[in-house]
Amino acid sequence: MYSLAKKILFKLEPELAHDITLGLLNTSPRFFSLPYQIENKKSLSVSTRAGQWSFPLGIAAGLDKQARLITFFSRLGVGALEVGTVTPLPQMGNPKPRLFRYPADESILNRMGFNGPGVDVVQSNISKHDKKSMILGINIGKNKITPNDKAIEDYLVSFEKLKHAGEYFVVNVSSPNTPGLRELQKLDFLNELFDELTKVNSKNKPIYLKIAPDLNDNQVKEISEFALSSSISGMICTNTTVMENMGKGGVSGELLYDRAKRIRRKVLEVTRNDATFDVIGVGGVSEFSHLWDFWQDGGKVMQLYSSIIFKGPGIFKSFQDQILSVMSYFGFTNLEELIRVVYEEKLNLPKNY
Ligand SMILES: Cc1cc2nc3c(=O)[nH]c(=O)nc-3n(C[C@H](O)[C@H](O)[C@H](O)COP(=O)(O)O)c2cc1C
Repeated sequence: MYSLAKKILFKLEPELAHDITLGLLNTSPRFFSLPYQIENKKSLSVSTRAGQWSFPLGIAAGLDKQARLITFFSRLGVGALEVGTVTPLPQMGNPKPRLFRYPADESILNRMGFNGPGVDVVQSNISKHDKKSMILGINIGKNKITPNDKAIEDYLVSFEKLKHAGEYFVVNVSSPNTPGLRELQKLDFLNELFDELTKVNSKNKPIYLKIAPDLNDNQVKEISEFALSSSISGMICTNTTVMENMGKGGVSGELLYDRAKRIRRKVLEVTRNDATFDVIGVGGVSEFSHLWDFWQDGGKVMQLYSSIIFKGPGIFKSFQDQILSVMSYFGFTNLEELIRVVYEEKLNLPKNY
């Protein structure tokens, strides 16, 4: 079904195709998820600070900015859906066109600029959905008109309004499409921001930090060490990357994979001995070997965005088939156990996977 839909959708302007797809999925989430549903198996669940992911793959921020696809993705059977980025006030985002596909590279360039309806609408949308056992993450950011020295207030407003609605939260300071946002990756700012968020985090929900893939090794080491020593519960690695030759915006998909993998590896080097610190991998993940590489580095769960656009929602079923088959190959009945052994014994993926 997706290959037919893709033929039509890829003829349309990318943002229009996105809006039409979301509109349709939102009208009949149960119907549209049916052909792609993965069976929830207890043996495939993975523990995180936010609770058990029923499957080691989730949906990255930006696909469902307004929290309209909660029912669809929970029926599909993904481990987690991260909605947002949510800003306190509604905003239009950058002028169109601002979303571009590169099918030959299975990559996307976007300069959306946190277009969204604002926190109140997202709050109301979340309350209309049934998410079953799926983990819900909420990614928060600042409005474009808010100067950086007032940014903390923006993060606090959205967190206060949504803190009961999700299982984890993400501070986004790494989108390349809001001027000056990446400057907020400075440790002084993060220190103050997480102190303030902790004060109002009455339910002790995990709050993660999402970082850019364009940091150098020293910066990644510094930020990871800081995160470990602070109230940050984990890191999401990574956001989109800047490639001057592709134009203004952030690049995701295959072209991002190597950069994001380097960052994930560096972050895990610093943090993986702390079992209570989550590292969620994202960026160019499109095949089972990518997940396996992440497990070898000490990670557990990953997110997808671009590969769903190019390969369709059936991608989750393919991952599930491969996970089950490799578990049986190595004689494991519990995925978490396999993940531990892949890391500790640097287990290689058999050749035909
Ligand atoms: C169109 C588009 C919009 C995005 N919007 C957001 C966003 O609002 N907040 C965010 O943290 N990341 C956003 N991202 C980044 C993704 O969450 C993810 O980090 C990135 O796309 C890399 O994953 P991928 O290669 O699997 O797509 C967006 C990505 C795309 C393609």
